[in-house]
Amino acid sequence: MKIPSQSPAPRPRPLRLEDVDLADPGFWRLPRPVRLASFALLRRLEAPAYFGGPGQGFYAVVRHADVREASRRPDRFASAPGVTTPEPAAWAKAVFGNSMVNMDGEEHAALRRIVSRAFSPRLLAAAEENVRATARRIVDEMLVERPVDFVSAVASRMPYEVICDLLGIPAAYRPRIAERVNQASQNAGVSRPLADRLRMPGRGLRALAHMQLMMARLARERRRRPAEDLISALVSADVNGQALTSRQLGAFFSLLLVAGVETTRNAIAHGLALLTGHPDQRDLLASDFERRADGAVDEIVRHSTPIIQFRRTVTAACELGGRAFSPGDKAVLFYASANRDESVFTDPDVFDITRSPNPHLGYGGGGPHYCLGAHLARQEMKALFHELLTRPRELRAVGLPELVDSSFDNRVRALRFAFEPS
Ligand code: HEM
Repeated sequence: MKIPSQSPAPRPRPLRLEDVDLADPGFWRLPRPVRLASFALLRRLEAPAYFGGPGQGFYAVVRHADVREASRRPDRFASAPGVTTPEPAAWAKAVFGNSMVNMDGEEHAALRRIVSRAFSPRLLAAAEENVRATARRIVDEMLVERPVDFVSAVASRMPYEVICDLLGIPAAYRPRIAERVNQASQNAGVSRPLADRLRMPGRGLRALAHMQLMMARLARERRRRPAEDLISALVSADVNGQALTSRQLGAFFSLLLVAGVETTRNAIAHGLALLTGHPDQRDLLASDFERRADGAVDEIVRHSTPIIQFRRTVTAACELGGRAFSPGDKAVLFYASANRDESVFTDPDVFDITRSPNPHLGYGGGGPHYCLGAHLARQEMKALFHELLTRPRELRAVGLPELVDSSFDNRVRALRFAFEPS
């Protein structure tokens, strides 16, 4: 018999705008539904709100239309000096090279052109059979080994193997590089406890240094023996008559690995959790995979929004979303909020793979920095979920994803899962 408790559990206090502080690391440790509800409050304000100390803080751009507009006005909302918070230190950029995500204009365009062909739908269509074969191999091994953690055994392996194939990284290098990718990307975000904040940059920078060394070694090999891969394209690139320096090569290598792996791995892990939590949507997808797959992977990215935010710096006086901006102001584009904007998405908190149209901003708001790997990520997710839904029986997440507190990415540390062999 259930014994009624003496005093009823206290009702949660309604969320108040004055309690919301995006600059407070504590905010990023709140449960995700509370953070999303806070963004809903911010979207109702007349203009983007300011967070942080005077001169050191940022304006939070939270509405879909505003995130889209800022992304498409790079002349006013620049990516330099850096899109992440905290900003990469000037000395780190000098030592490890600056990544094109932090650049604007022709400097950015020239670097992006070197690799953009490889990510075009036409060339990726040619690589599709390899993506499918990779998904089959990962699921073959999963069926034999019956791992416990979905993230390490499945979700991170899929994007990692695919980007390594595109780059042309030999199998012998892959385990070591995988470890470095994980360490390098753990540093993004402002929400770490002090001990971690002090420890992680060191570890992240050491990881970057190792990646640079490996890139240098691979670059030497490809200069001697070019192949049909991205490393060969990078080492033979000509930007205004100049080859890329070893720092530029290193920065590219780390960017493609980190951007290509972490985001997609988190989307895949959230995808399994969402499909487990919504069996009707899972059945719909499984019953007509070819027709539903595009809608499903887009809805997974909208709902989970693997990258929470990127920052821009205002270059000249302008207006956005009802706020007058001055040069030097920081504007943080919250994709996590834009993707729940009720003026664009009906019932934005509902996971609905039939949502159409689904103009989510999970890959960015458009403009010159729009995710280079969006098409590849879709291809990977479709190939993997096809295998996962057709090969084992009753594949499901067990419990909720173990999330990492972060203001930057919606990162899943681990996700237990189970299935019956077919
Ligand atoms: C579900 C998976 C993914 C998500 C959610 C995602 C999200 C994003 C977002 C939000 C941006 C910033 C866009 C902007 O500033 O306007 C971005 C940029 C980028 N992404 Fe992705 N991404 C994913 C997968 C990938 C993959 C597979 C690659 C492959 C290499 C990749 C490579 C990049 C690169 C290189 C950039 C920087 C582009 C530039 O600065 O020109 N991403 N991504």
